[in-house]
Amino acid sequence: MKFFVDTANLKEINEARSLGILDGVTTNPSLISKESLSSQKEIQDHYMSICSLLRNEEDVSAEVISTNYRDMIKEGEKLSFIHPRIVVKIPMTQDGIKAIKYLSNKKIKTNCTLVFSTGQAILAAKVGSNYVSPFIGRVDDVSYDGLDLIREIKNIYNNYHFRTKILGASIRHSLHIIECSKIGIYAVTSPMKVIYSLLNHPLTNIGLEKFLTDYKNKMN
Ligand code: E4P
Repeated sequence: MKFFVDTANLKEINEARSLGILDGVTTNPSLISKESLSSQKEIQDHYMSICSLLRNEEDVSAEVISTNYRDMIKEGEKLSFIHPRIVVKIPMTQDGIKAIKYLSNKKIKTNCTLVFSTGQAILAAKVGSNYVSPFIGRVDDVSYDGLDLIREIKNIYNNYHFRTKILGASIRHSLHIIECSKIGIYAVTSPMKVIYSLLNHPLTNIGLEKFLTDYKNKMN
């Protein structure tokens, strides 16, 4: 399973790189707003900096802030010109679906975001989105099961051999990642703190302490 980091922060992207787990990056307007960028030029330069940290097949999703079809496609094209690694992230709306169709016809990569239902995921695949981002944590927040949504989308995509890649988003804890890997989706996009939480097990700490104590006791 691929690990994307859900951040626009260069330090965090570097941390993911140095941990050896980085397969891609996703951003959204809220994440961009945390980076104290004050102009369009600075935002574009920031996307360039993120792209320069990526390698091989890795990509970065950059989200449009326009909401109508004409502006979305204009903004999407502009984002795609910044760097070949940019995937244009488009919200799941009627205009968004039309924009994904337009951009995918032009071979511009897209990520359909803010997906909360199987119907939305079917539409994203029908118009040829490269990725679909179902928001697991936010579905959980409204007392439904975000992982059930992932299972259903996976089944439906399998039924029709849809090529759209499922990118599990809104990851809140390590079980989200583990369950997504059991379901077998292409990738998750996660904050670094959740990726770090995969490291933890009390028996590892206890075991390591014992190994080192035994060794020191013998050698001293
Ligand atoms: C997805 O691409 C979004 O950027 C993100 O995963 C949303 O996560 P949140 O619900 O924790 O804000």
